[in-house]
Amino acid sequence: MFTDRVLSGMRPTGRLHLGHYHGVLKNWVELQHQFECLFFVADWHALTTHYDTPEIIEQNVWDMVIDWLAAGVDPAQATLFIQSRVPVHAELHVLLSMITPLGWLERVPSYKDQQEKLSEKDLSTYGFLGYPLLQSSDILIYRANRVPVGEDQAPHIEFTREITRRFNHIYGKEAGFKEKAESAIKKLGSKKSRAYRELRNRYQEQGDDGALAAAKSLLDEQQNLSMGDRERLFGYLEGGGKMILSEPEAMFTHAAKMPGLDGQKMSKSYNNTIDLREDPDSVTKKIRTMPTDPARVRRSDPGDPTKCPVWQFHLVYSNDKMQDWVQQSCKSAGIGCLECKQPIIEAVLAEQKPMHERARMYEEDPTLIRNIIADGCEKADKLAQETMRDVRDAMGLNYS
Ligand code: TRP
Ligand code: SF4
Repeated sequence: MFTDRVLSGMRPTGRLHLGHYHGVLKNWVELQHQFECLFFVADWHALTTHYDTPEIIEQNVWDMVIDWLAAGVDPAQATLFIQSRVPVHAELHVLLSMITPLGWLERVPSYKDQQEKLSEKDLSTYGFLGYPLLQSSDILIYRANRVPVGEDQAPHIEFTREITRRFNHIYGKEAGFKEKAESAIKKLGSKKSRAYRELRNRYQEQGDDGALAAAKSLLDEQQNLSMGDRERLFGYLEGGGKMILSEPEAMFTHAAKMPGLDGQKMSKSYNNTIDLREDPDSVTKKIRTMPTDPARVRRSDPGDPTKCPVWQFHLVYSNDKMQDWVQQSCKSAGIGCLECKQPIIEAVLAEQKPMHERARMYEEDPTLIRNIIADGCEKADKLAQETMRDVRDAMGLNYS
């Protein structure tokens, strides 16, 4: 139950481009080999800002999943699903809303920031205010403890941690907690009980985080504890009461920002993107017509790579030798800009080739994608229902 599980979501608001590939998807592909991973299409999150253009979301859902698979996300390794097809996310959202102070939501920086940035939209809605809590529900419903996100999402993860502590604080208290925890320790067997107590003391008396981690992994290995006892023993380590929900941690990707065709960060809103599955002719044309150092008007004018977006691409795609060649021959006017762009064109096309290949069968037969998602939704729902049982229980909703 408390083993490493990775969860992340993406809003289907446009076609994915190479910025998504270098910033997010490459990382997902690596993670799927290291951890149990769940990746989902955050269509409800997209509706919080695009409620008046649902057709945009509809268009992008399936294409986005094909882009994931094209990038190398493997449905045999990771569970892929659509948020709205696992409706218990909404049930957890409504239950958590009962204990969520309005002020906590109003203070999340993205609330005001996005309202200002997207000022043409009316984002003074209940749904948009609740965005971070919906995100918390996505994470907590799978007891995911690792959440790969961009730096901009850090406040949402912090918010989730606070909600988790509040939930456990309110609902983790039970009559006779200490006695129940003590009797759960005995069920570990004499050797493990002793180890658990020792580690707990070391953590509580000396604040030894290593001891806490060791005690948690000791509990992870126990197959025959009941769910309730396990939660008690986790909670007892840190004091308090039962840990019904577990606090997630953000995993930040340290990928360098992918430059766009104009040298700014690649982004749909700057209109400077190369799509993940863009057709090779169009890619070639875009790179050939990309701006270069504006001071380099004639072929005989020396250039300065630091003032040139093409150089940014060489930093992403070229080895040291190629980079030296660019530096020298640009500054000495030894090459023309088209010559300098050629290796970039080749590198981008080479990167995209396997993506086109992987995508082809899904493009030709849409039922494949539908089946992958149906399968993922079913798996996700099963995991989510386990948590919901505990949450309903804790909140007094398991009527018999
Ligand atoms: N808010 C995230 C973003 O805009 C998307 C998202 C929704 C998400 N729910 C999530 C990411 C849960 C990680 C975990 O990028
Ligand atoms: Fe940019 Fe290369 Fe032209 Fe120099 S030679 S200005 S780096 S495109």
